[in-house]
Order: sequence, then structure tokens, then C-alpha cells
Amino acid sequence: IHVDWDAVTAEKGGFEHFMLKEIHEQPKAYRDTMRGRIDATGKRVILPELKLTHEQILNIRNIQIVACGTAYHAGLVGRNVIEQLVRIPVETDVASEYRYRSPIVTPETLVIVVSQSGETADTLAALREAKANGAHVLAITNVVGSSIARDADDVIATLAGPEIAVASTKAYTSQLIAFYLFGLYLAEVRGTQTPEAVTEIIQAMQELPEQLEGMLENSDSIKAYAEQIAHHEHLFFIGRGVDFAVAQEGSLKLKEISYIHSEAYPAGELKHGTLALIEEGIPVIALVTQESVYEKTVSNIKEVNARGADIMAITYEDHVSTLLKSVDQVFAIPKTLPLLTPALSVVPLQLLAYYASLARGNDVDKPRNLAKSVTVE
Ligand code: G6P
Repeated sequence: IHVDWDAVTAEKGGFEHFMLKEIHEQPKAYRDTMRGRIDATGKRVILPELKLTHEQILNIRNIQIVACGTAYHAGLVGRNVIEQLVRIPVETDVASEYRYRSPIVTPETLVIVVSQSGETADTLAALREAKANGAHVLAITNVVGSSIARDADDVIATLAGPEIAVASTKAYTSQLIAFYLFGLYLAEVRGTQTPEAVTEIIQAMQELPEQLEGMLENSDSIKAYAEQIAHHEHLFFIGRGVDFAVAQEGSLKLKEISYIHSEAYPAGELKHGTLALIEEGIPVIALVTQESVYEKTVSNIKEVNARGADIMAITYEDHVSTLLKSVDQVFAIPKTLPLLTPALSVVPLQLLAYYASLARGNDVDKPRNLAKSVTVE
């Protein structure tokens, strides 16, 4: 018999590309990254791997998150998570900028570097700089034997498994899970959340893998939408709060592999300049998952709708019918806590980038000019 499968096809596990395979591996990556880090009662996060003592945690005055590319976007969500759960001031920086702005680092500063590969030169240099200035450095990485893991004082490993596609998907979402776990751990040590609030978040986290599986099974409308936008040259992503952080990742994903120019904008900031670019038929993808700013975001959607934009909203089921008055299409995500939505809402954006790249005939897994790991500064 002639078997038409080479080794690479076999590695793709029946998927056409590594990226699609890795998108579908996210429920497993969530489970693996959480496994062993939540105690049997489901009420506490345990991170036995950490050397960081309770005393050190109680003394933290500020946190700096440093990373590049997609990992930087995970750090933007991480800032939101830690500030909300622990009320410690957090800054998130792009590694190649961090070093050169003379960041204010003291022994009470915790620096968190985020890196899928653990080999990114800019991130490694930032880590060394932070350590030289006396900070305790925690690495969130997918490769435990990497240079970044070796040089850091502490490591939280994301257990996403090997990521082959240049465009990062499951590594990013596993980094989000790591931030949720670490944020809850800090909150417990510093007593900033009630035990009930912690339990509620942990329970909602444990539902994420199944919710994601359901979403992946019902994502045909994203494929159709991707084919519709694939011939456009410009588009916008808008959102507020953590939706804006996800918008930035969605925009990067699209640029990386479809080569469509896109910009992510804080929804409320559009009117201060960028609204000039909104014209008839331009696709705008609006993330509308944060109840606290729901009405405000809807007002911003109406501003772009009035200029003729073709809008797709990502929101919860209960907002679909009202939103359809101001947008052309809606993709509903399962209900979770506001803090956790990025772990679900980014997935339709990953699929959008994937199918748009496919529709344009690009090399999805190996986009032009990009490398999986960049070891030069
Ligand atoms: C490269 C990759 C990006 C990645 C970035 C950071 O530019 O193309 O996808 O996000 O490096 O990589 P890291 O391994 O540090 O997460």
C-alpha cells in the first residue's frame, strides 16, 4: 500500500497546519498548566516550585512585566489580572524598550519575564538588567531548560507542549493561565481577596477547557467572516480594558500571517484621531465582554457604525440581540468571569487570522520575514 503521509503530516495530527493543530490543543494546554497547581479542595492555588517566600511577597512594592511580541500581549492581560486581584502597581514593557528607559527597580520590585521559547535575546537582556539592579525575577516560559529559565530566580512553566507555528497561540493562552494562577497565589498570601472570591475564580478557570472545546466546535462563522475580510488591506480591532489587550493580540496575529494591515485601538480613544480612517465598508472587530464598560463600548461602536464600518462584535450570548442593532455580525463566547474572558475571546481572533491567511494563500506556519525565536537584539 502507498501511504501518503510524511513525518511532518503525521506531526500535524490530521490538521492542515501546525497553527490550527495548536489552536485546537489549547483546552489540553489549559488543563496541563493548571494540573497540580490547584489543591484538591479547589479553593487554593499551590505553586510549590516557587522559591519566592511569603515574606518577599509581602514586601513587593511594584511589579514589572517584560516580554516581546505575543508574550508582551499576555503581559498586558497579566497586569490587569495582578492589579485587580492584588492591588500592586504593575507596568508592562516591551523588552527592547525596558532596558533603555532606566526602569525604577529596587529589591522590592518583582520582575516577571514572559517568553514561550525562553531564548528571546531582548527578554534575556532585560532579565539580566533587572537582576543586576536587585530585582527578584520570575520567568513564565514554555521551555524549562531555556536560557531565560536558567537565569531567572523563579520559573512558572507553561505546559503548552512544543509550539511549532511561528504565530503563537497555545503558548499565549497558557501564559494567561499562568498569570491567573500567580495572581491568585499573590492574592492569597497578601490577603487581598476573600476565600469565596478565590474559589469562584478557580471554579470558573476549571470550566475554561470545556467552554473552549465547545467554541472550537462551533467556529464555522469565523471562517466565513475571515474569507469576507481577506481581500481588505486595512482593518481595526477595538475594545476597552482587558478587551483592548486582547484586541492587540488579535491584531498582531492577523498582521503576522495574513499581512493585512490592522490596528488595535482602545475603543474610547478612536475619536481622538483614528476615527478619521473609518470609512464605508472598513472591517472593525469590536470586543465587548467587559460589563463595567459595556455601555461605553457600545457608544464607540455606534460612532464607527455611523461612518459605515462593517462591524463584527465578539461578546456574550446575552448581548447578541441588542448588539445586532449596531453591528453586522456577532460571535458569541461562553460566559465566564470578566477577568477570565481573554482566555476565550482571543480564540476567535486566532482562527480569524488563520483563515484569512489561508484565504490569501500565505504560508500560515512560516510567515515571511519572521522567526519563531529571535536571538538577536
Ligand atoms: C518572535 C515570534 C513571536 C513571539 C516573540 C517572543 O518575534 O515571532 O511570535 O511572540 O518572538 O517570543 P518568546 O519566545 O520570547 O515568547
